[in-house]
Amino acid sequence: MSLERGYVQASRTETGRLLATLAATRSGTIAECGTGCGVGAAWLRTGAPKETRVITAELDPELAHGVMDMFAADDIDVMHADWTSLGEHAPFSLIFLDAQSAKGWPHEEIIDLVEAGGMIVLDDFTPCATWPPLDRGRVDTLRQEWLADERFTSVDVMVAEDTSVIIAVKR
Ligand SMILES: C[S@@+](CC[C@H](N)C(=O)[O-])C[C@H]1O[C@@H](n2cnc3c(N)ncnc32)[C@H](O)[C@@H]1O
Repeated sequence: MSLERGYVQASRTETGRLLATLAATRSGTIAECGTGCGVGAAWLRTGAPKETRVITAELDPELAHGVMDMFAADDIDVMHADWTSLGEHAPFSLIFLDAQSAKGWPHEEIIDLVEAGGMIVLDDFTPCATWPPLDRGRVDTLRQEWLADERFTSVDVMVAEDTSVIIAVKR
């Protein structure tokens, strides 16, 4: 579907493998904010145990309904909705923040969506070895805030030479 629609924002394979690996450790419900063409949801479903629910929300009607059709026979719940509607199905054992507005959402509200020991995952960071982290010469405040938040144990994982993923686990 990504290729058919010329959609270029799909999760990278390296990120997908990490999502599947994290999902393999999760019970309860896993959520994704921003379905796109369903690549991240497919990786999450592939890794998650059968009993673990996978739910994903997409604002764009064409994408949401296209992915609903594509996953009709799979155990993935696709919502055509703003990702904030996922809150009705919380708490989550993992939430993948892949819509731009979700990435910058106040931590207080994201924390409430996740159970203790639950994971928050954000991708598409530019690898950086300095502290504070920099992106194109400026402090990467999004990454800095997630890594410095003491309510989480967190790590920045370089999944490929040019991209990294933050995993924050709620204490
Ligand atoms: C980076 S793409 C998602 C890629 C997908 N998660 C994957 O792994 O392949 C971001 C998606 O978020 C959707 N989006 C943007 N704002 C949203 C919102 N408020 N609620 C739900 N989806 C949103 C966009 O339409 C876009 O499809």
